[in-house]
Amino acid sequence: MTENANEFFSVASELKAELEPLGKKYYIETYGCQMNVRDSETIGGLLQSCGYTLADNKNESDLILFNTCCIRDHAEKRVFGNIGALKEAKEAHPSMIIGVCGCMMEQDNVAKKLQRRFPFVDLVFGTNVLHRLPEMIKHVLEGDRVCLLSNNDVTVVEGLPSVRDVSTSAYVNIMYGCNNFCSYCIVPYVRGRERSRSVDAIVNEIEQLVSKGYTEITLLGQNVNSYGNDTRSSSFAELLTVLNQIEGLKRIRFMSSHPKDLSDAVIDAIRNNPKVCHHVHLPVQSGSDRILKAMNRKYTREQYLDIVHKLRSVSHDFELTTDVIVGFPGETEDDFLQTLSLIKEVGYSAAFTFKYSKRQGTKAATMEEQVDEAEKKLRLKRLNDLQAEMTVTDNMKYIDHIGEVLVEGYDQRETCTVFGKLSNFKMVYFRGDPDLVGKYVNVRITACKKNSLIGEIV
Ligand code: SAH
Ligand code: SF4
Ligand code: F3S
Repeated sequence: MTENANEFFSVASELKAELEPLGKKYYIETYGCQMNVRDSETIGGLLQSCGYTLADNKNESDLILFNTCCIRDHAEKRVFGNIGALKEAKEAHPSMIIGVCGCMMEQDNVAKKLQRRFPFVDLVFGTNVLHRLPEMIKHVLEGDRVCLLSNNDVTVVEGLPSVRDVSTSAYVNIMYGCNNFCSYCIVPYVRGRERSRSVDAIVNEIEQLVSKGYTEITLLGQNVNSYGNDTRSSSFAELLTVLNQIEGLKRIRFMSSHPKDLSDAVIDAIRNNPKVCHHVHLPVQSGSDRILKAMNRKYTREQYLDIVHKLRSVSHDFELTTDVIVGFPGETEDDFLQTLSLIKEVGYSAAFTFKYSKRQGTKAATMEEQVDEAEKKLRLKRLNDLQAEMTVTDNMKYIDHIGEVLVEGYDQRETCTVFGKLSNFKMVYFRGDPDLVGKYVNVRITACKKNSLIGEIV
């Protein structure tokens, strides 16, 4: 079901008339992945439509919101610590609103536990009710304690305002939720089932972004390759082809891609649509078939390598990044060695590596043979050491290469140094004026550092 946001705006404008003259400020602390970053942009837009303006820091704000993540155990500990630290500030300024939202709030009983432990939290809400924020704020201002979770609300709401953090490149959701139930992962429980936005809504949003000067977009979904499966309309490959025609748009990125659904049609769409960048984030998680099966990933090492091979055939400078988990229940030294050998075989430009973290309610949490914490730590280090070597080897390939960089910003520490990315997601630093930000520049690579390239304008 798709709804338009209009009906929520009347409450927002009522609040704006009241709050704007008072100069009320908000601050959002965001944890977790791009989904949460994007949600915080929408929350910021909604708060501004209610008359709040962005505070420079937490201390001077009238409304503080924590947008939480629960993908791993430590994310949870950190946020609880930071909420607890606000107790005194709230005592000193009782009118300050403290809110907590995001994935963690959608976990069984966590919202209740949080409200019990921190009685000074005024507002709690889930991941799929952002559009009701003006209404919630209104209740809080009237003195209520509000808790609104998504439950089975599967509505996709279009037309919400947002305040985007970055001026060159914008995130655009193409779908919400996840159907994959990888056995270690909490996301399907806290973000619900897959809901795709319509092609029209996506095109519309991107056209508006382009009219504001954005030339690069990153399409977001937990598994973009299954876009459209729920609505039985256009596929992801078809979507890429439509977006490629948007005038003024120069680069299309997307993440994440689940290998089991990365079809030949998607690879052809990457090949045939020049705006689609030559980089895919393709989380592998493990190099061992036994572990991949236990993870419910639904592909084998061989199938994964076959996709890598096809992607590499798109262009000589095609790059891949990945996510890897070490110490999944039952992972033996031999399984882990297979992960290391896969890392060597693929040659990623970067890997995001994690120690397996037990998430209550997931299938893997009940598996026997949980791996010892010290062993996980050791494997993580071995993996990171190998990837660090691989990244340097991969970067070396680019010396003398000329490529187009979209300049994203300038280095505050060094004068006249700007940075930006090649189509294949490699970060390049080079001498240039800060007014190059937002422009495309041809750069020759002259050297490389641990995680980036150094270049000069040609
Ligand atoms: N939907 C994305 C991933 C989202 S979560 C995808 O499938 O690619 C980002 C990464 O966090 C995952 O790829 C995985 O590597 C890691 N992760 C998820 N659950 C985890 C857990 N319980 N312990 C450790 N890492 C985990
Ligand atoms: Fe989690 Fe798997 Fe869904 Fe990614 S695809 S969000 S890892 S369940
Ligand atoms: Fe975390 Fe939610 Fe993303 S659990 S990783 S913020 S989808």
